[in-house]
Amino acid sequence: MISLGISYSKAHDSSACIARDGKLLFAVAEERLSRVKHDARFPRLAVKACLDFAGAGARDLDHICFGYQRPLKGFMHDLKCLASGQQPMSGLNLLITTQHFASMWHQDGGYHHFTAAFGPTKVRPRFVDHHLAHAISAYAFSGLEQAAVLVVDGRGAWEATSIWHGHDGRLDPVLTIPWPNSLGLFYAAFTEYLGFQPNSDEWKVMGLAPYGEPGADLHQFIDLHGDRYRVNARLLLGNGNGNGSAMAALASRMGGPARKPESEIDGRHKNIAYGVQELCEQAMLALVREAVARTGCRDLCLAGGVALNSKANGKILSSGAVDRLFVQPAAADDGVALGAALAPYLEGGGRLPLQAMRQVYLGPEFDNSDIEKALSTYKLRYVKLDNVASTAADLLAAGRILGWFQGRMEFGPRALGSRSILADPRDPEMNAKVNNAVKFREWWRPFAPSMLAEAAAEYLEAAVDSPFMIVTSQVKPEKRNVIPAVTHVDGSARPQTVVEEQNPLYWRTLKAFGERTGVPVLMNTSFNLRGEPIVNTPTDALRTFFSSGMDALVIGSYLVEK
Ligand SMILES: [Fe+2]
Repeated sequence: MISLGISYSKAHDSSACIARDGKLLFAVAEERLSRVKHDARFPRLAVKACLDFAGAGARDLDHICFGYQRPLKGFMHDLKCLASGQQPMSGLNLLITTQHFASMWHQDGGYHHFTAAFGPTKVRPRFVDHHLAHAISAYAFSGLEQAAVLVVDGRGAWEATSIWHGHDGRLDPVLTIPWPNSLGLFYAAFTEYLGFQPNSDEWKVMGLAPYGEPGADLHQFIDLHGDRYRVNARLLLGNGNGNGSAMAALASRMGGPARKPESEIDGRHKNIAYGVQELCEQAMLALVREAVARTGCRDLCLAGGVALNSKANGKILSSGAVDRLFVQPAAADDGVALGAALAPYLEGGGRLPLQAMRQVYLGPEFDNSDIEKALSTYKLRYVKLDNVASTAADLLAAGRILGWFQGRMEFGPRALGSRSILADPRDPEMNAKVNNAVKFREWWRPFAPSMLAEAAAEYLEAAVDSPFMIVTSQVKPEKRNVIPAVTHVDGSARPQTVVEEQNPLYWRTLKAFGERTGVPVLMNTSFNLRGEPIVNTPTDALRTFFSSGMDALVIGSYLVEK
């Protein structure tokens, strides 16, 4: 049975994946192929890549599954919210909602795009409830038989937060908190107020938070006094979702204008970031406690855009509220393609195929001949390496900043040793060097470490298996000045622990670096320039390499130096 999963909402992060007999074969976000960050268009290139990988055509598909409800369902909920006053009623709001509905209706939720590009299918498309798709993406890949499942995002059609009970390959709905009572909305609104891109730059707020202090009063926007959060959506939504009118309303209540993008960050901004993060963590912890209480399960699966908040995830784990935690590495909407593709298994009381996701190297791959072709095309000087791990470790130990392009591209937002920029984490200046020369990004955003899983207990307070850089840990105080470039101002780090089976070459490189320096840890950041998607092809890698201050590029078996 071949199943195609598609994430397409016209909002952000379109993607596609393909599974055969319940096994995930290939997954990629449209942005990596189109080179448009957070590309929200129908994922034509991603679908084509999935079909090509599986050697399948449109007529071979047994299921074609979208990770969103049919357009009418969302529209009806929006009308209800407007009529009841939960969302400010205005001509503009009504127009935006109606326009979106009409467009998605006209496209049959994206299916018309599919048939126009790939021809007719033998099956009708299936539209999977958005939060169910998120929930499947977390539970089915967790490796857990029984779990509480928590989904928290901006919004689905009507859902903002949902709790599920995963057991025996099934998912029972436990609780739904409908839009616009949305933690994702709360975080996104303040992301915009602080001068960043909402539904994209929430990381920046999370990274800025430790520089602030308690004091910003945000309680009129979110109430945490009951067991469950309540977001005052009327204050966060203007005449049109997230537009200037919302920012004007926020400005008057916050006693100051929204920060202009790229302008200076002051103490007030830092304190607001601190407050937003703090309240988000409290709200998440309350939801986790409720999920555990209602399901009787102390193992937790998380998905939805808010589950990318690695700081909150770290707090959940260290709170003792749960025993085990699995966070779907593609927790945002790119990941709903995974859940949608498996949804047919639930039909007629069926069971999901359960599998432990141990790696996310699910994207395109380019072999040495592809790479050599690109190198020759651009008439570049290069050498072929006998031992890639050893040469890379030598260069890194000598303080060089390395582009690293190997194997299949990662699915999800993190670079995990396939499309990475690597550097020496022992150099206290390395953070600034990489920021200024390569990533051109904000000074306060921390870089993350990759480390041999075997060494995690030596460096981290509570070393857990952390293959996806999605849960924050505290670096042991005596190790903070050993790896200063990847230790945040509050002593935290967002580690990737690497075991040999997941990525043998990357593991060997970490090991070789450890043999040379005594520290089997590397700074690992995604291989892209600021504002661009992570590189996909050898040509993307070469273009990025030569547009930045990286010193050398290890691409397949080849070394390119400047
Ligand atoms: Fe979502």
